[in-house]
Amino acid sequence: MDPSIPERLLHDLSRFIAAHTGLSFPPKKWNLLVKGVAAAARETGFESPQAYARRVLESASPDELLEPLVGRLTIGETYFLRDKNIFQTLQDHIIRGLIEYPRRREKSIRFWSAGCATGEEAYSIAILIDRMGDVLKQWDIHIIGTDINRRFLKIAEQGIYTRWSLRETPDAIIRDYFIPHSNNRFELLPRIRRQAAFTRLNFADPDYKRILGYPKPMDVIFCRNVLMYHDAMNRQHVLNCLVDLLEDNGWLVTGPAEAGFVDSKTLTPVRFANATFFRKGPPRKEEKYPLTHGKKHGRGDRPAKSESLIRASLNPAPRLNNRRITDIRDNRPPAVDRLYDNAVLAYERGGYSEAAKKLSRILENGHFRKNSFLMQTQSMILLTRCYANLGELKNAEYWCHAAIESEKLNPELYFLLSTIYQAGNDLDAAIRALKRALYLDADFIMAHFQMGVLLRQRYRLEESRKYFLNTIALLKAKDPEEVLPQSEGMTAARMLETVQSLTG
Ligand SMILES: C[S@@+](CC[C@H](N)C(=O)[O-])C[C@H]1O[C@@H](n2cnc3c(N)ncnc32)[C@H](O)[C@@H]1O
Repeated sequence: MDPSIPERLLHDLSRFIAAHTGLSFPPKKWNLLVKGVAAAARETGFESPQAYARRVLESASPDELLEPLVGRLTIGETYFLRDKNIFQTLQDHIIRGLIEYPRRREKSIRFWSAGCATGEEAYSIAILIDRMGDVLKQWDIHIIGTDINRRFLKIAEQGIYTRWSLRETPDAIIRDYFIPHSNNRFELLPRIRRQAAFTRLNFADPDYKRILGYPKPMDVIFCRNVLMYHDAMNRQHVLNCLVDLLEDNGWLVTGPAEAGFVDSKTLTPVRFANATFFRKGPPRKEEKYPLTHGKKHGRGDRPAKSESLIRASLNPAPRLNNRRITDIRDNRPPAVDRLYDNAVLAYERGGYSEAAKKLSRILENGHFRKNSFLMQTQSMILLTRCYANLGELKNAEYWCHAAIESEKLNPELYFLLSTIYQAGNDLDAAIRALKRALYLDADFIMAHFQMGVLLRQRYRLEESRKYFLNTIALLKAKDPEEVLPQSEGMTAARMLETVQSLTG
């Protein structure tokens, strides 16, 4: 089978895909498109990728033919409780606000996970609701998950996951809500599974309302990490549809990198502690704005030498350029997310001791602990970083182990542990920690890379080269523009250049 596809054909095909799915494949992503077309052609029995591509372009109703290609071009990266700040805000402010809204006639709340992939987001909402217990007892809760990819939806309906989907899920939740099976599979409890329904919906389809059973508008729409794969025109089209389907005063939440795409006069960005949601409706009088979220260093403790190693993503709230942001924090009783947010602010301006004090309050005070299962590991991670930046490596190690104890399947915690050992010059322990990270996630690019670096420092050159080559192989399968987790903002393309220069 000839794998090459003429440029003209790729050009036409990428336009066609954008029109039918919204997915954007500019020339710099054509390597992914070529791979996808070749695999789809094989699956559907075409003699060559070109023949498949041509048939797609000629087809008047290409849905079925496109399916295997869409299956390969969509990225289903997701996991339970992805971005715990969002879920803490959902619990503390959004759901509580909806329940307390005095003019609410019906006792029902409708959630939509738009672009739900394999269902983890929809089920995270269901778990959260279950944890909220009696407050929602009298309420009808509807959770719907939609996606373009049928294979993802099948997995969602089955509700059986690998531990990779639970990598940031507290152990206590895994214990309470999943039945462990052999082969590292975890089955979500049937009673939670029944709380969510899944259906196929392509955002490029104009018939949203029928598919979702409109005219019942949604109270909360999650559309996270979806729009970033779409072209600008389609993003706007999708946003208009989402707004149209949202209840007045209902809420939309996007991924952190996508908040800047939201440009709708009917949506007001509302900044909660560490998370921004968009409310349908004009800004409210009693709300305060704008939010000033200082990010300067200077005051507070001096960063220790190891800082650049330790400062990885803190998962901050999205920053919206030049938008008026409503900040409702001052109208709410102190909540754990607010305390955590203040700790993040202190941390960001270099006040590591101050941040550590606030975090200790979250972790030590029983009242906070009860309401903050979501923030517990986050707080431990931040506390680890505080101590690491203060040069108190023993304390950092202690809290990192505590975080690992609460989320045993999270490879990023072992990665963090390895940076602490590196800061203390214990390279062997750092290597052992990275091995653990790679055991939990064999595709963890930065862990492969760091392994290469450490083994090189240990003069284990052959092994080091092996890890660099792994890094290169993994990077080549990535979207060049993708920012790598735990890399302090490096794109796959930039990282590839770096590793290639090290392997000669
Ligand atoms: C990266 S996942 C996001 C999953 C989840 N929302 C999260 O943030 O963890 C993006 C999902 O968007 C879906 N998607 C992309 N284009 C779509 C379209 N045109 N219509 C519906 N879903 C689409 C993909 O199939 C994929 O499952």
